[in-house]
Amino acid sequence: MNHHQNHVRQQLADQLAEAIAEALKTDLAEQERVLLVISGGSTPVMFFQTLSTKSLPWERVDITLADERWVDEQSSESNARLVREHLVQDKASSARFVPLTSTAATPEQGVADVSDQITFLAWPASAVVLGMGSDGHTASLFPDSRELDLALSSGEPLVAVRTPSQPQPRITLSADRLHQARRHFLHITGEDKRTVLARALAGDDARKLPIRAFFSCPLAIYWAP
Ligand code: 6PG
Repeated sequence: MNHHQNHVRQQLADQLAEAIAEALKTDLAEQERVLLVISGGSTPVMFFQTLSTKSLPWERVDITLADERWVDEQSSESNARLVREHLVQDKASSARFVPLTSTAATPEQGVADVSDQITFLAWPASAVVLGMGSDGHTASLFPDSRELDLALSSGEPLVAVRTPSQPQPRITLSADRLHQARRHFLHITGEDKRTVLARALAGDDARKLPIRAFFSCPLAIYWAP
């Protein structure tokens, strides 16, 4: 990433952090607790770091993930580790982060317990921040996953997912649960993802490009080169 690219991606992260902080503050004026659902991966690190510096009553904010790799929280692959290291810090250190893993050996064995863990959170979320892969996946709704149809249609909050394109088993909020939010944001960067987004916007089949499942609601697209 060159200096200019880094600069515009930092600007994007700052703008998204501002929008999320405002959304949380707006909802906190109306309700005791609010919920923020975020995605992992590499894109959101700058966004997490800026959001953690925002002044708001973080002790009244629940945070959970859109999806998770079924790995130990100490693993470099863990989204929970990413959130604890970059978001639940600074002013946001008093937020209540609820991870999507349990001590079960597999997500299939853990999905019921994790569903219990997230049931009491302040649904509908104030905001869901989605990422997108170059295959058009979002959260862990992967086009090559045999559980995709289930994850797109289930009324269950969480689905265990296995997919040939990913090294670890995953657990993901279902599309239905990800829709239980007042605001949806898509945070992506780079020319490759711009091309994938353009292709996704030109069609309707979410099984081919699962990000399409979120074109049925207002979606704020935060993209930078
Ligand atoms: C994950 C994320 C996933 C991510 C996309 C984009 O667990 O990896 O939740 O859905 O948003 O894979 O990842 P990058 O930001 O690393 O491109």
